[in-house]
Amino acid sequence: MFKIVEKRRLAEAIYLTRVEAPRIARSAKPGQFIIVRCDENSERIPLTIADYDAEAGTITMVTQALGVSTRKIVAKEVGESFADVAGPLGRPSDFTAESIEELKSRRIVFIGGGVGTAPVYPQVKWLAERGVEVDVIVGAKSRDMLIYREEMERVATNLYIATDDGSEGFHGLVTALLEKLITEDGKHYDMCVAIGPMIMMKFVTLTARKFDLPCIVSLNALMVDGTGMCGACRVKIAGKTKFTCVDGPEFNAYDVDFDEAMRRQSMYRDQEQRALAIAREREAGHKCNIGLDK
Ligand code: NAD
Ligand code: FES
Repeated sequence: MFKIVEKRRLAEAIYLTRVEAPRIARSAKPGQFIIVRCDENSERIPLTIADYDAEAGTITMVTQALGVSTRKIVAKEVGESFADVAGPLGRPSDFTAESIEELKSRRIVFIGGGVGTAPVYPQVKWLAERGVEVDVIVGAKSRDMLIYREEMERVATNLYIATDDGSEGFHGLVTALLEKLITEDGKHYDMCVAIGPMIMMKFVTLTARKFDLPCIVSLNALMVDGTGMCGACRVKIAGKTKFTCVDGPEFNAYDVDFDEAMRRQSMYRDQEQRALAIAREREAGHKCNIGLDK
């Protein structure tokens, strides 16, 4: 069992949960993820690792409560446990295998969109701890939805905030801010890493292409086993089928077929909506009459 030692609300329906998982905390690297099962009968949910502390033996996950299973995860309180936390899964970010001198010679910009800001943090922290300077752009719908701001301020060389409604920082999308930094503010970047909603990663890739900027994205495909056996997480990369759980989750952005990835991601939306409606009815104490198979 994996005991919860900290739980914090970060924004509306977004929670940080820190869990005792010493083996994962010892071996986790930036870019990797875990699969969480709340209890024996729960669905397996992939979540990117938002932080890890080998000394304390804990890992941190950030969950947006959108469906039945993610609502179950955030409903757990400190002192309670998860039945399973499997990981670390997936390949670490490529830069963890590069020489630090080489990394120091490059200007890297990270882009975190909404909840995707949390998995950007361990990457920037890993680089900052090794003296590599990086710029970070964080985008959110509004000031209330910004997460990991203080954490990011501690590790980023320059932190740029963008909000869709202009309530904080730059007024607009992360792509417009990236473009402004390069064309108006004279910034030069050698590499871009984007993590967030699939649509954001698609448009960051299109923006990066305008400036011949190499770009890496982290795909959050649907997953079942997380071990390359079931095929649930398959994506098209440079025209070939790859499994996000074992070949990724990070890929060269220019190789990703985003439209197909988005289609696959929304394949079970109706079933998810129905399951959520049933759960809400149950929570409200009403007799539920919506059949999952209708
Ligand atoms: P959001 O919709 O608030 O978007 C965050 C930011 O992305 C926006 O503020 C904007 O700057 C940018 N963005 C959005 N659409 C864009 C577009 N068309 N063009 C350019 N920029 C755009 O984000 P949210 O509600 O927090 O997103 C939740 C989604 O993120 C979920 O679908 C979740 O699955 C996904 N997610 C992905 C990862 C990952 O590893 N890739 C991790 C966590 C969450
Ligand atoms: Fe089953 Fe990746 S989740 S192959």
